[in-house]
Amino acid sequence: MDRKYWETIAPNYEEEIFDVLRNDTSGLIVSAIEQAASREKSVIDIGCAVGKWIPLLASSFKHVIAVDISATNLQIAKEKYPQFTNVDYVRSDMSADELSVTPCDVAICINAILTDSLKKRINFFQSLSISINKEGILILVVPSLESKLYTNIIANRWNVDGDHDEKIESSKKAFELANNIKQGVTDIDNVPTKHYLKEELQLLLSLEGFTVERVEKINYTWKTEFNNPPKWLQEPYPWDWMCVAKKG
Ligand SMILES: C[S@@+](CC[C@H](N)C(=O)[O-])C[C@H]1O[C@@H](n2cnc3c(N)ncnc32)[C@H](O)[C@@H]1O
Repeated sequence: MDRKYWETIAPNYEEEIFDVLRNDTSGLIVSAIEQAASREKSVIDIGCAVGKWIPLLASSFKHVIAVDISATNLQIAKEKYPQFTNVDYVRSDMSADELSVTPCDVAICINAILTDSLKKRINFFQSLSISINKEGILILVVPSLESKLYTNIIANRWNVDGDHDEKIESSKKAFELANNIKQGVTDIDNVPTKHYLKEELQLLLSLEGFTVERVEKINYTWKTEFNNPPKWLQEPYPWDWMCVAKKG
């Protein structure tokens, strides 16, 4: 999941990538943003992609910095929202060894730290800290490893979507899958994607000088995981983790 990957996805972004804003029917992320927002404050949207959060951010904050690694994504976002004149679009790699960024009072980072590279994730978490002013608020959403394992267990136990027919193409791939899962990296649409444990997320943020205020589940429907979810399958629903943290 490097820059090339995200540039390739960009033209078909709407079809390829899961829309967190649309699927968070609880509105918990919007509420967290509204709680942190002020017309006196600045906000940085880290991994903004095609700018789904821009209308909310631009109308709730004084100034918005929309950051993404993909120039194509940023161009799409910029063309979509010409009416919001308080938004700056900045191409930047938050996983780079060195970063120049204007820190803001609030940061949102929604399903952007997905890379299977540990080195890139370490840099990304450091970048989160650099991007936020002291006492500033971070709203971070990441895929949940607990949810992914729960989904896998259900798929296997009840052969959902023909789970039993799935074949691993080679022993090399089997070795890769086994090694990855030990690090919380598991495929989404055949792309190795980092998933996080709640405790891991709390640890990673505290190491970067954040105080975690709360971690909440962002629940989705089973239709987001299965083509044909069993009718009886209800709560708990699949989820991402949302973490609200304060920079110390
Ligand atoms: C799954 S999309 C999420 C988009 C958006 N936050 C949303 O909720 O709709 C992940 C985005 O993170 C961006 N991204 C991934 N790695 C990045 C990095 N190292 N630096 C900056 N942006 C990155 C990708 O280009 C992509 O647009």
